[in-house]
Amino acid sequence: MKLFLDTANIEEIREGATWGVIDGVTTNPTLLAREGGNWRGVVDEICRLVPGPISVEVVSTEADGMVEEAFKLKDIAENVVIKIPMGEEGIKATSILSQEGVKVNLTLIFSPNQALLGAKAGAYFVSPFVGRIDDAGQDGMILIQEMVDIFDNYSFDTQVLAASIRHPIHVLRCAQAGADIATIPYKVMKQLFNHPLTDKGIAAFLADWDKVKEGQ
Ligand code: E4P
Repeated sequence: MKLFLDTANIEEIREGATWGVIDGVTTNPTLLAREGGNWRGVVDEICRLVPGPISVEVVSTEADGMVEEAFKLKDIAENVVIKIPMGEEGIKATSILSQEGVKVNLTLIFSPNQALLGAKAGAYFVSPFVGRIDDAGQDGMILIQEMVDIFDNYSFDTQVLAASIRHPIHVLRCAQAGADIATIPYKVMKQLFNHPLTDKGIAAFLADWDKVKEGQ
């Protein structure tokens, strides 16, 4: 499973890039607004820091506007993937852009039928929002499994990009379900590194090594 960072924070992305396990980045208007300042400069820097796919979202609500925006955004850098919100206009835009060879991340997916339409429209990624489904009192992981099964049934090339990840168990369940990618907030990524028994084990090994050194 590929791991993307779900953030527009340059410091987090700069650190994440040093780990060697980050395959891409997803942004959205909320994440870019959180950073303040010049969004274009932020996106330029993200594209420079991480060579993998960088999702940048359109804000138009009509297909024509989405397509126009997409062509401008894709010129920012070769690794930009255009995030298009799900809906009738979004599917129209996805079909047009995919036929033009533009990579689309169809976002705000909350049902398997939305994902099926996205795959048929030629989306490169479809992004189911696991955490927001959980927040609504349903199980977001069921959607991931349904999408993986449907895409496998018909050998769709579209990749399942699990989004709205809230904790390490979401990451584990995505990997078990066969999601192609999980896009993970920095805070959750940091949690993946740790286990109390690892810390305890390192402390014990270092303490024992001190004894070896004392005996020499
Ligand atoms: C990423 O593509 C999504 O925009 C993001 O994961 C949404 O996360 P949230 O539900 O925590 O806002």
